[in-house]
Amino acid sequence: MSCQHLTPDELLATTRSVRKRLDFSKPVDIALVAECIELAMQAPSSSNGQGWQFIVVYDTEKKRRIGEYYKQAYDHYAASPRSPDRQHLDSPDMRVTQERVLNSSAYLAAHIKDVPVLVFPCLPVRLDSPEKAGNVQFQASMYASIIPAAWNFMLAARARGLGSCWTTLHLAYEREIAEILQIPFAEATQIAMIPVAYSLGTKFKPGPRKPLGGVMHLDRWQA
Ligand SMILES: Cc1cc2nc3c(=O)[nH]c(=O)nc-3n(C[C@H](O)[C@H](O)[C@H](O)COP(=O)(O)O)c2cc1C
Repeated sequence: MSCQHLTPDELLATTRSVRKRLDFSKPVDIALVAECIELAMQAPSSSNGQGWQFIVVYDTEKKRRIGEYYKQAYDHYAASPRSPDRQHLDSPDMRVTQERVLNSSAYLAAHIKDVPVLVFPCLPVRLDSPEKAGNVQFQASMYASIIPAAWNFMLAARARGLGSCWTTLHLAYEREIAEILQIPFAEATQIAMIPVAYSLGTKFKPGPRKPLGGVMHLDRWQA
């Protein structure tokens, strides 16, 4: 294990979405990925179900095919008008950050096939079945039974000098990617695709975030 010497707070504040600083030239040992998954599995899960599945993809041809779908999804996203939940991104104080994110996302979209490892956290249940889709408790329980684990994975990766990025654009082609990875589409849901590589340099700064005042509320909801 090649852990960097980060304090817990530094690890939490500097685990960024790494795209342009992914080192495509340096192989990532599967044993290191396995270590990160062991730590991922220390996350909580609903009723201690531990249903998490992590598909770890090294295969060059599979990465190439997945990369093509990802690029198509990215191009569609980049060309689409702002949906209401994205309009805040046009505000002047977000513009600089957002331009950087778009630029960096475009770079990643062009390079999925070059990333040493792609990790797909999945759950062995369909979350969009008609009887479950509107059940908030079920949805919250299931997502929270994989997302903390996948985030643990990304923290563990960062602690080992690896960079990663939470991505979901490929889910526009979830069925096609399930076919490539032999995921039983009728019985399992993909949650994310996490590209993993050594980071180019290990120093990262905390990301720009909204002021705490608009986020933390005492005793009642405040708009
Ligand atoms: C649910 C979710 C979906 C995301 N999907 C993508 C994606 O498909 N592609 C991508 O490049 N980044 C994606 N991101 C990364 C965000 O763009 C990133 O977290 C955000 O810009 C803040 O940057 P930071 O993580 O470096 O602080 C996603 C993040 C989340 C939480």
